Amino acid sequence: MDATRQRYLMCRPTYFAVDYAINPWMDPTTPVDADLAVRQWERLRQVYRDLGHTVEEITPLPGLPDMVFAANGGTVIDGKAMAVQFRDPQRADEAPAYRAWFEAAGFEMYDPKHINEGEGDVLLAGDHLLAGTGFRTAHAAHAQLQEVFGYPVITMQLVDPRFYHLDTALTVLDERTVAYLPEAFSAGSQAVLRRLFPDAVHATMADAEVLGLNAVSDGRHVVLPAQATSLAAQLRDRGYQTIGVDLSELRKAGGGPKCCTLRLRQRKASK
Ligand code: ARG
Repeated sequence: MDATRQRYLMCRPTYFAVDYAINPWMDPTTPVDADLAVRQWERLRQVYRDLGHTVEEITPLPGLPDMVFAANGGTVIDGKAMAVQFRDPQRADEAPAYRAWFEAAGFEMYDPKHINEGEGDVLLAGDHLLAGTGFRTAHAAHAQLQEVFGYPVITMQLVDPRFYHLDTALTVLDERTVAYLPEAFSAGSQAVLRRLFPDAVHATMADAEVLGLNAVSDGRHVVLPAQATSLAAQLRDRGYQTIGVDLSELRKAGGGPKCCTLRLRQRKASK
């Protein structure tokens, strides 16, 4: 399996905290070790650098504790960046900050017409865009994603509030393969997944409950929460190299490695 070099956008969790609850993982009465959160995030960044990937950083802003979850900052494919519109007012001010970053970096900008939480709910799998809905991103946003990016969009209906973003329930391993938690999806979406990905890896609830599916793959190396040990074993059986990272503090906000990472996809070289 070939690894491809990737360019990622990350945001240091300088102002990370759990001050509000917008998903079932968040409990503002649970103590969070902010310094440990930064050290764990730095380790994730180092893992990417050691794999040869490029990590760009956006400046964190005070008062936006969830800004560390860069996957929600946009959807970036083929040199086009679609900005986001958050469901919850607590995260609203992150959207213009990420938008400004994409614009300064030279991406062709598109603005969302509906609630759209970026690559938290949008995953490019080969030639399909898998798009989640049910908790955050509006179903209407899916049509706009198809129009902007020109990939067929497959709607995925999420049904378990703990797996509120698509990237907590499914991970893309390479152009052809995904891993997912079947129970996180409606019966119809499960049938679609079986049809599109007959060889997919099915994760267990135990692995999903440690956000094991919130993983980042370069096609060969899969970076995932260290606690997701049986998923890691399944992936190694399939020939992937797994790298466990501990993001215990960020998990208190409902986020893992993939949430902290936004892949920046350039325009493909024209043929
Ligand atoms: N606390 C954040 C929220 O609920 C976590 C976002 C996690 N991001 C992700 N891509 N799943 O919005």
